[in-house]
Amino acid sequence: MEKELDWGNLSFGYIPTDYNVRCYYRNGQWGEIEVSSSETINIHIAATALHYGQEIFEGLKAFRGKDGKVRIFRLEENAKRIIESAKGIKMQPIPVELFTEMVKKVVKLNERFVPPYGSGASLYIRPLEIGTSAQVGVKPSQEYLFLILVTPVGPYFKEGFRPTNICIMREFDRVAPKGTGRWKVGGNYAASLDAGERAHSMGYSAVLYLDPKEKKYLDECGPANFFAIKDGKYITPASESILPSITNMTLQQLAQDMGLEVERRHITLEELEEIQEAAACGTAAVASPIAEIDDIDTGKKYVIAKDGNPGPVTTALYNKLRAIQLGEEEDIHSWNTIVE
Ligand SMILES: Cc1ncc(COP(=O)(O)O)c(C=O)c1O
Repeated sequence: MEKELDWGNLSFGYIPTDYNVRCYYRNGQWGEIEVSSSETINIHIAATALHYGQEIFEGLKAFRGKDGKVRIFRLEENAKRIIESAKGIKMQPIPVELFTEMVKKVVKLNERFVPPYGSGASLYIRPLEIGTSAQVGVKPSQEYLFLILVTPVGPYFKEGFRPTNICIMREFDRVAPKGTGRWKVGGNYAASLDAGERAHSMGYSAVLYLDPKEKKYLDECGPANFFAIKDGKYITPASESILPSITNMTLQQLAQDMGLEVERRHITLEELEEIQEAAACGTAAVASPIAEIDDIDTGKKYVIAKDGNPGPVTTALYNKLRAIQLGEEEDIHSWNTIVE
């Protein structure tokens, strides 16, 4: 039985669930999967995660479908991406099989927290790896903890699927040109907090970062990738300093399936004058349409959604992806893992 919660009004916060799962890497090998009902961990005061930021994570969702089954979306891609993050900051990669088994297990154990079909809510899955060895010298940890917690989250668009405004602020970079931007490293998010808070205080939903080297090309939108629709083409930045979004990868495939051409390339700021639609995409929102992009430094405003409504292609892509996640449409690319 599902737990009784006000599913439609949950925020993207934290609600305790029954269990989390953990696995320790010690003496050169991963141990047994442990199931815990504790919300805390015991960690050495000199752990590398605390001092030198050896921390990586993932974010994916499970949905209750029309048929009542629980589907985890693009599990394997998240498993592959956390391996890249681990390699990027010299942490121990988690084998795909271990990642997969632990995600399935933690969802199954907390099945009563998977929101009901039709609520718009989902179960957010947060895998996390940290370096745990005690060390004061700057070097990689010998030991690691990989854990997965889950928490139900509400619908992203509580007031409906509406475009929002975002802004560009050149005084902030999230990451360095050849830095850690392509990996899901906690430090990247710490580096984005000041800019994000500043943007929110001015009424913007996110910051659109420019490439950190030349400040000429679009990079990504806070914790989401950017895509635009231009003359029937799906265009999205190719950049070494953005996270390869799994939602973006998925939308590119769906765009192709709909007969759109897909271009992954540099997008200049000036090109914003020529696009018909734009959106931020990621696990949290799927696609969040952009109304206007304001360049804070120059005062220039790029109005994208001229009538204030989401564009037809963004809307079609959003609806299609949601329908696949909810088991309303056939999953022809095998993106869902059904929890048995
Ligand atoms: C920096 C950043 N870019 C993009 C994304 C979107 O990635 P995904 O579609 O895999 O959620 C996220 C969120 O995970 C993110 O944190």
